[in-house]
Amino acid sequence: MSALFESFQLKSVTLKNRIAIPPMCQYSATDGVANDWHQVHYAGLARGGAGLVIVEATAVSPEGRITPKCLGIWNEAQAQELAKLAQTIKSNGSVPGIQIGHAGRKASANIPWQGDDHIEGEGGWETLSPSAIPFGGHLAKEPKAMTLEDIERVKADFVQAAQRALAAGFEWLELHFAHGYLAQSFFSVHANQRQDGYGGDAKARGRFLLETLQAVREVWPETLPLTARLGVIEFDGRDEETLQEAIVLLNEMKEVGLDMVNVSVGFSTKEANIPWGPAFLAPIAERVKKETGLPVASSWGIDKAEDAQRVVADGQMDLVMIGRAYLADPHWTYTLARKLGVDKPSWTLPAPYAHWLERYALTE
Ligand SMILES: Cc1cc2nc3c(=O)[nH]c(=O)nc-3n(C[C@H](O)[C@H](O)[C@H](O)COP(=O)(O)O)c2cc1C
Repeated sequence: MSALFESFQLKSVTLKNRIAIPPMCQYSATDGVANDWHQVHYAGLARGGAGLVIVEATAVSPEGRITPKCLGIWNEAQAQELAKLAQTIKSNGSVPGIQIGHAGRKASANIPWQGDDHIEGEGGWETLSPSAIPFGGHLAKEPKAMTLEDIERVKADFVQAAQRALAAGFEWLELHFAHGYLAQSFFSVHANQRQDGYGGDAKARGRFLLETLQAVREVWPETLPLTARLGVIEFDGRDEETLQEAIVLLNEMKEVGLDMVNVSVGFSTKEANIPWGPAFLAPIAERVKKETGLPVASSWGIDKAEDAQRVVADGQMDLVMIGRAYLADPHWTYTLARKLGVDKPSWTLPAPYAHWLERYALTE
């Protein structure tokens, strides 16, 4: 059997296979509250056969949203609708996960298909970052340099969000420490020029991430996976240094209870030269896995059956995260199983579909 269809256990949670849907913002919420779109979207993804479905970046506070249409988890109305999503994912056969985060200096933006740039004037809000350095380009707004009180408040927001996620029925929590948002900005020399113990050397730049993780671990049950997505490389010419810093930080995180890392890119600078290509992060994921001993998930450009199969079979990652391929084909796991010649591939789908595809097989 393909390595992709082996189960995977982390803490008390067992995934039925090694395929996970990474968080993907839908920019379709109102006041941070999920609606019919999210229900249909997540039901479809879960029905499609992945072992794990991680709900998109969900903001821990209003100013932590990337756009006004992002999901939030800072109040009970939001938590109630999120609970329905967790239930939908579970009843469709997948483990429900959620990513919680704060967008930092990339917040207060227009949704991608309406510009993706910072909102000018009405509807925008003050953004937060370790230092008052804008990302630049289409995200040129200068953020407020966070005070120590701001830092404490955001950490507390993460803790409260984790508690709400647990109460809503999520069984897998991912902290969004990647992609140039707030936590990644603390870690990145491109965004953090603080001199107060939260900036300076790599240890100080990692402090906000470590303390946030530690605080969340205190409220997130030991029996359930607590994971983080971290940009371990920026492709900014400082690659080996950043990667080594990330590995040291991940080892510290492991000490305080990190269960798995979702290896990603930093996206902290416009000046990056990212080598986009099929599975281009796989060797980086493999190195992180070897040098931290943590279970690793990763994504980016893995949309072919052979690539997905290879990165897991070769041990480069434990879980493969499939994003855009699932938007194109919500039954991608079935497509994959057929391509890999898995016996009775229809059984990657629920019985009301599987029965007919098995009994009257497609001609091609
Ligand atoms: C529509 C869309 C929304 C995304 N939103 C998020 C997000 O909420 N959080 C996150 O960490 N990554 C986000 N990403 C990145 C994906 O999780 C994933 O890493 C990326 O799509 C690369 O995987 P792929 O090549 O399989 O698509 C998003 C990607 C897409 C296409």
